[in-house]
Amino acid sequence: MPFPGTGTIWMNGSLVKWADAKIHIASHVIHYGSAVFEGARCYDTPQGPACFRLAAHTHRLYNSAKIYRMPIPIEPAAFDEAILGTIRANGFKACYIRPLVYRGYGEPGVSPMGSPVDLAILCWEWGAYLGAEALEKGVDVCVSSWTRSAPNTFPTMAKSSANYASSQLIKMEAMADGYAEGIALDSQGHVSEGSAQNLFLVRDGVLFTPPLYSSVLPGITRDSVITLAMDLGYEVRETVIQREALYVADELFFCGTAAEVTPIRSVDRIQIGPGRCGPITKALQSRFFDVISGAVPDHHGWLTYVYPEATGADTRKQEKAVSR
Ligand SMILES: Cc1ncc(COP(=O)(O)O)c(C=O)c1O
Repeated sequence: MPFPGTGTIWMNGSLVKWADAKIHIASHVIHYGSAVFEGARCYDTPQGPACFRLAAHTHRLYNSAKIYRMPIPIEPAAFDEAILGTIRANGFKACYIRPLVYRGYGEPGVSPMGSPVDLAILCWEWGAYLGAEALEKGVDVCVSSWTRSAPNTFPTMAKSSANYASSQLIKMEAMADGYAEGIALDSQGHVSEGSAQNLFLVRDGVLFTPPLYSSVLPGITRDSVITLAMDLGYEVRETVIQREALYVADELFFCGTAAEVTPIRSVDRIQIGPGRCGPITKALQSRFFDVISGAVPDHHGWLTYVYPEATGADTRKQEKAVSR
């Protein structure tokens, strides 16, 4: 169903009505996928709307742009302010946030250097990506026949639009075959990630997740889950995972800004553990939702309040950049 869209979009410093936020068909990005972007969320908390790990998302956006030689013409702090201003302009209590850095209308040809680096920020209200029921009951997934990009091809550290050609192939194949999602393997045949989620496996009480060299996006939710798991006293290992380890896991779950923490109940029609959300997934999911909803103190400085003056506290303390 076409998405009607609402409110205003920030484009190169101006707020533009959703219906008027257009770019020229000759823009470089349309022909060559020359964009990097972010996906973040703002949550409704008792102290008002708060963006989850805004600084980490902006930091990753600037890293992605650096890899693709796209100089962003404003400072990260100004970008953060533009995001907060866009949420305020739309009056959202909770929303998904999509910052975009793209090569606009300039010179034709593969080289992006003659095309401007344009910026946009879109926000919209978006519920559970894999469905509200999925958070509770889990999803049925397959191992994709599509391999994630090999090292030194499309850099997976960059959240580049071009990488999502691979994600689309994984997602379409999974859906065509009746699954909610696909898990891609890396070029060595080891577990990589879902089309737009990182993955965790639980075995004998220990959490395992593929390392960044298994062609995964350095997910901010992945980093948050590792931190929360360690807070809760679990051991976490970033290690290469064989495909068959998926089938014999006690628990499996996806994590990501859109998917949040979603249990996986089967892979290739093989039931995982008891076929529902396992106890460690549940503990981490609950902790994650408590943190993002402001139900527990923000020990890690992960929440940036949209209306800081209304919270009555110094809530603008910023976390350090993601190191994992
Ligand atoms: C390919 C891919 N992997 C992992 C993730 C999870 O990353 P994050 O937790 O930063 O949203 C995403 C989500 O954007 C993604 O697109």
